Amino acid sequence: MHASDFFDLHGHVALVTGASSGLGARMAQVLAANGAAVALVARRADRLTAQVEAIVRGGGKAVAVEADVTDAAAMVRAFDAVEKQLGTVDILLNNAGVVHSGKAVEVTAEEWRRVLATDLDAVFAWSQECARRLLAAGRGGAIVNTASVLGLGVNKGVAAYATAKAGVIQLTKALALEWGFKGIRVNAIAPGWFITELNRDYLASPAGAAIKKEVPVGRFGQDGDLDGAVLLLVSKAGAYINGATLVVDGGQSVALRG
Ligand SMILES: NC(=O)c1ccc[n+]([C@@H]2O[C@H](COP(=O)([O-])OP(=O)(O)OC[C@H]3O[C@@H](n4cnc5c(N)ncnc54)[C@H](OP(=O)(O)O)[C@@H]3O)[C@@H](O)[C@H]2O)c1
Repeated sequence: MHASDFFDLHGHVALVTGASSGLGARMAQVLAANGAAVALVARRADRLTAQVEAIVRGGGKAVAVEADVTDAAAMVRAFDAVEKQLGTVDILLNNAGVVHSGKAVEVTAEEWRRVLATDLDAVFAWSQECARRLLAAGRGGAIVNTASVLGLGVNKGVAAYATAKAGVIQLTKALALEWGFKGIRVNAIAPGWFITELNRDYLASPAGAAIKKEVPVGRFGQDGDLDGAVLLLVSKAGAYINGATLVVDGGQSVALRG
């Protein structure tokens, strides 16, 4: 088989949360470029529209769906809308996420809940909704959750985020175990530092320069560095990969993981 056959996504319907910017916007682009019809989900409608227009201009098929991933009713509406416009979602990328920083003694209950609700609870809810619909349709699929190297190791000041991302990695294994036999594979990607809106200012600061020195390949992640991992996990090329967490960090966390 040729490489292009392994990664071809024509006939698939993908839904990417957190697709209005950063890593999710790029994930939507790469899925569409390889043939998938893609639904881009986030709260900022103007950003989603701009991303969809760029994909369509490039010859891809895409729709924008405005939704807050923490809103259960909005989630059901989003799946319904995508199903109507594109068909049953058989590739789900749970990528929406928020960060926080602050000492554990200062994190408020509201902030803890906001991070856990977005970064962990929603990953479960959207995976469950997707799997229910795939099971009802008698179809298989692929779910990929964006975790983080902070789900494997930890820094100071990110207790809620690191806890949520560690939960995502464990949840990925639990769902892979339950749904694999039905043809629904569930995997995670654990990116290291990628320059996006989430961290652009921080990575440009002296603290960021110090972090860069710890990355064995000598740079932060950039556009395109996750393309291969995403395509591998959602396509035929990854048909026997289930419950895995693929670390994409230039080698940064090797010291943490041993
Ligand atoms: N950049 C990194 O170095 C890095 C490293 C490891 C992991 N990650 C993970 O990668 C993912 C993407 O982050 P990014 O770096 O690309 O940052 P980003 O550009 O800020 O993207 C975050 C995305 O999540 C969406 N989002 C946040 N809360 C949402 C909500 N309640 N409902 C719907 N969408 C929501 C945002 O869209 P709206 O604001 O329009 O809703 C945006 O599209 C996150 O899960 C993050 O934890 C990033």
